[in-house]
This record gives sequence, C-alpha cells and structure tokens, in this order.
Amino acid sequence: MIPINLPKIGEEEVEAVVKVLRSGRLTSGLGAGPMVTCFEKNFAKFAGVKHAVAVNTGTAALHSAIVAAGVKQGDEVILPSFTFVATAEAVVMAGGKPVFTDIDPVTYNVSPAEIEKAITKKTTAIVPVDLYGLPAEIKPAREIAAKHGSALVEDAAQAHGATYEGKPVGVFADAACWSLYASKNMTTGEGGVITTDNDEMAETMRLIRTHGEKAKYASLMLGNNYRMSEMQAAIGVVQLEKLPAFVAKRRENARRLSEILEKTGKLQLPKEPKGRRHSWYLYTVRLEHGTENERNKIVEELRKKGLGAEVYYINPVHLMPYYRGNFGKRRLPETEKAAKQVFSLPIHPGVTEEQVDYIGKTLLHLLR
Ligand SMILES: Cc1ncc(COP(=O)(O)O)c(C=O)c1O
Repeated sequence: MIPINLPKIGEEEVEAVVKVLRSGRLTSGLGAGPMVTCFEKNFAKFAGVKHAVAVNTGTAALHSAIVAAGVKQGDEVILPSFTFVATAEAVVMAGGKPVFTDIDPVTYNVSPAEIEKAITKKTTAIVPVDLYGLPAEIKPAREIAAKHGSALVEDAAQAHGATYEGKPVGVFADAACWSLYASKNMTTGEGGVITTDNDEMAETMRLIRTHGEKAKYASLMLGNNYRMSEMQAAIGVVQLEKLPAFVAKRRENARRLSEILEKTGKLQLPKEPKGRRHSWYLYTVRLEHGTENERNKIVEELRKKGLGAEVYYINPVHLMPYYRGNFGKRRLPETEKAAKQVFSLPIHPGVTEEQVDYIGKTLLHLLR
C-alpha cells in the first residue's frame, strides 16, 4: 500500500537523537533545553517571525495560542468545520464557543464573507485553517479581525512550506500553530510549534507550556505540561533543514499528477490561487457532480489496488455528536457537500514518479 503520508527519516535524525540520549539531557523542567531552544530559533527564522514556542502537539499549540489570544469562558470563536477536530477542541478547552463557518467550494478554506456574517460582539478570535496546506485568505480575515477587535490565530498545522504573497504562512496572523505529527511535511514524531511576533503572547504561551511557571513551584497562571522533549527537538532541527527538499518533491508530484488527471472532466483538481503557494500536504480532488456513494466506491477501489486514498474529512466537525450536541445543529451547505465529494491521493516525498503515474492512470481508468 502506498500510504497517504509517510515520515521520511534518515541517518541524520537517528544520529541527532542518539547524541541527545548520550548527553543525558532529555528534557527541561522549565520548558526549553538547548535543543528545544535551537529548534525554536531555527523555526522562527524559517517562519519569518520573532518567536517560536515549541510544544508537544499541534493541539497543544492551538490551545496555548487561543488562550494567549484572550479567549475566555463564553467567548465566541469563528472557525471552519471542514478541518481536523483539534481546531475546535482547542477552542472548547479554552472555554470558548466554536462558531462553525462555511467554506469556499474551490479552495475549501473558510470564506471571508462567511466570517463577516458570523462575527458578533462576543467574537474574541478567528481561526482560519490552511486546509490541505493551501494558505487561507488571511489578509481579508485580518481586516475583519482588526475591524472587530478580534485576534487572528492561524491553524498552519498542514502548511509547512506554504506561502501567502511570498511570505511564509502565519506572518499575517497574531499567532500561527503548526503540527509536527508523523504525517506532516516535517515531523518530530509528535510535536507542535507556535510562531508569533507578539512578545506578550509568546510569554503567555511559554508559561502555559510548563504549568504556568516562570520559576519552579510558583505558577503565575493555569498551565499544562505541553513541553517538547530534547529528542523531538533534535529531530525537528534536522527535518527543518530537509523541509525545502520535501516540499519541492511534493510540488513536483502534484504537478505530475495534475497533468495526468486533467484528462478527465470529472474531477475538480487542487489549484493555487494567485499569490498563494501550497505546501502540498494533501493532494485533494473532488468528484464533481458525484454522490457520496460514488466517491466512496472510488476510494475503496483505489485502496484495493494498493493506493492509500483517504477522505479528509468525511464528517465535518459541526456534525460530530459531541459538537452537534453541545453547540447546536447548523447547516453549512458547502462544507457538507465537499465532505461527500473530496478524496486525497498520496504525493509525499517517498512517492516515486512511476507511482504517481500509476495513481493517475488507475484513477483515470476508474472514472471512465
Ligand atoms: C488542521 C489541523 N489542526 C490541528 C492538528 C493537530 O495537530 P496534532 O495532531 O499535532 O495535535 C492537525 C493535525 O493532526 C491538523 O491537521
């Protein structure tokens, strides 16, 4: 089976971890040992901002950023429902009420017009997601946030290497949250990082990362254990160096696959709108005019042939029992339609040209 994503780990990562293990310094009780500090410095440079705060998951990154953005009990937070559940979880963990908002049917990213409609006096934050690695429309979201005095936290979990108007994603938000989970464009196994130019937010997120402590046993605020280990950071330092090559291979695979799939008129292929560069975390197509059953059948057939096609996301968050039960039923027509028609194909750096051709031809055959 060609999996939908696969970490690419070499001897360099192995050696970096062994070196940390031999040093005996595996973590730091106050959040940042030498490797974590080095990783943060390098990641901040890569992201084009002042601060990077490394944590142990992308979910922890989102939770810390949403709290640091000022979200409190009962505040409303606007976010898409067409995302991984962690985006919504982080809002709820901060005490906020998720206000799920519909997407643009071409980019699958949250629609600025829908954000504008959803905003109220209680909206403390807006959380656009760079879905599949395509940057969200962050500048329009920025304008809306500024007009209403809301914070803007970007979920860049899938967007390492993506750019918006030539700049790394995240620079136009108050904070951006990245995941370093094993499937992502770069990984530390599990891990996350938050980037920001805001000194105050960075300070708060560092406190949250380690029990609200600046000094031991003197918590200044409610925190958690969101610390990244030194081994994870050592992997992160190496993976960050390799990221440009990983993204270039994904881009090339995406280009090649699109060239083949353009021959069918039945699929909406992923596109890069002007000024936005994809990270190609997921290559997602849409069976235009197809039913959910037809889409599922194609995914099943691809899987039978050893191609790890997957659906992201088969069940939008607003329809999940917990979220529907606690935050009410709402209709999001574009989200619900997309969830029935999309599916993603493997293009990660481990996929060879021959495999891309096989994926493309197999899918063309199934669509005849
Ligand atoms: C859009 C999105 N947000 C948040 C997360 C959460 O990241 P993690 O799995 O590292 O907690 C993920 C990744 O799984 C994601 O894809």
